[in-house]
Amino acid sequence: MKISKKAQSIPSSVTLEISAKVKQLKSEGKSIIGFTAGEPNFNTPDYIVDSAKEALDNGVTKYTPVAGMPELKEAIVKKFKVDNNLDYDPSQIIVSNGAKSSLFHAIYCLVDEGDEVILPAPFWFTYEEQIKICGGKPVIVQTKPENGYKITPEELDNAITDKTVTLILNSPSNPTGAIYTEEELKALAEVVERRGITVISDEIYEKLVYDNVKHVSIATLSPYMKENTIVINGVSKTYAMTGWRIGYLAAPKALAAAINRVQGHTTSNACSFAQYASITALSGGEDIIESMRLEFDNRRKYMCDLLDDMGVSYIKPQGAFYLFIDISKFIGKSFNGRVIDGSVSFASILTENGVALIPGLPFHADNFVRVSYAVSMDDIKEGFKRIKEFISKLK
Ligand SMILES: Cc1ncc(COP(=O)(O)O)c(C=O)c1O
Repeated sequence: MKISKKAQSIPSSVTLEISAKVKQLKSEGKSIIGFTAGEPNFNTPDYIVDSAKEALDNGVTKYTPVAGMPELKEAIVKKFKVDNNLDYDPSQIIVSNGAKSSLFHAIYCLVDEGDEVILPAPFWFTYEEQIKICGGKPVIVQTKPENGYKITPEELDNAITDKTVTLILNSPSNPTGAIYTEEELKALAEVVERRGITVISDEIYEKLVYDNVKHVSIATLSPYMKENTIVINGVSKTYAMTGWRIGYLAAPKALAAAINRVQGHTTSNACSFAQYASITALSGGEDIIESMRLEFDNRRKYMCDLLDDMGVSYIKPQGAFYLFIDISKFIGKSFNGRVIDGSVSFASILTENGVALIPGLPFHADNFVRVSYAVSMDDIKEGFKRIKEFISKLK
C-alpha cells in the first residue's frame, strides 16, 4: 500500500523506540530501571477520579461543543486570570485532546507552506515534527550554556526573516528545566514586537517550578504580546492526568475561531467526562498539587547530589521534571569494546545494562541524555547505582 511522502518524512519517536527496547529486554527477564517517563508516577488524585465517575453516572457521555464545555472554558478563563493575570473571553479558549493537540492546531492555523518557525534548541522534539507536518520550516537556534540554554534577543533577531511567522517558547523547558525570567522575556518580547512575529508559549510545566523561581507568561508583557501569543497549557503534568488527554490554549479571537473550525474536522471535542473532571482539577486541590511538586523537588535535589558525587555535569533544572545530563566526556570512550559515539549509543548500551533514558539527539543536543525524576525514589537509588557502575567501566 502507498504511504504518503508526508508520512514517510516523519521519523518514529526515539522515546517509543527506547520503550520497545525496554519491553523486549524485560520480556527476556532483564531488570530495567526506566527514566524515560514524561509523566508523573503518581495516580490522578482521587477527588478528580471521583468527579469523572460522577460525570459518567450522570450521563456526561455525549458530544460537547468542539472547543469544550462552557463550564470548563469558564474554569480555564478563571485559571488564566488568577495564575497569570491574563484576561480572556471564553471564545478565545479551545480545549483539545492534550496540549499536544492544542499545539498542533495552533501551528496548523498559523503556518503556511514554507513559513518559518523559530525553535530554540534543545527543544521537545514534537515541535519540529508538528511544524514539518504543517508544511512549515523549523529554524533551529542552538542556545548556549552561558545563557542557561535560553535564546537571547540577539539570537532571535538574527533568526527572523521575512518568512518567520512564530517563535515557540517553552518555559519551564522540556528537556533542560530552564525558566525564562521576566527580564529575559521582556527583552525577547521587544524583538517579537519590533519584528512583528507571534509566539506560541508552551506553559504546560508552569506549576512545576523550584527554588522560588517564578513562572511568567510572555503574553502578560504588553498589549502586543497579549494579541500575538498563543498560550498552551493542560492538566496532564500538574494534576497527574496524562492519560485523560485534556489540553487547552488561549489565542486571539480570529485565530481561536480558525482553530475551532479545524478542530471541528479533526478530533472534534475532547473526551466529555475528562473535561468534566478537568473542571474539578482546575478548581482547587492546591495542597495535593503542592505535595507532588515538593516530592519532585526532593528527587531533583537528590539526583543532582548523586551526579555531583559522581563528577558528572548536568543542567540544573529550575522547573519541569527532567535532568539533562552532559555526557560529552564519555563520547569516544567504549564499553566492553563498543564505542560510544553519541547520545543514542550511550542510551542504547546503558539500556542493555539496566537503565533506560532518552538520548539528547532528538532534542538537538547529542552531548546530553535526559532522565526524568517523575519516577520513584527507589528507582532513582537503584538506577543511579547502575549508572555509576556503567560509567566506571567506560574506557
Ligand atoms: C513541553 C511539552 N509540551 C506539551 C506536552 C504535551 O502534553 P499533553 O499530555 O497535554 O499532550 C508535553 C508532554 O510531554 C511536553 O513535554
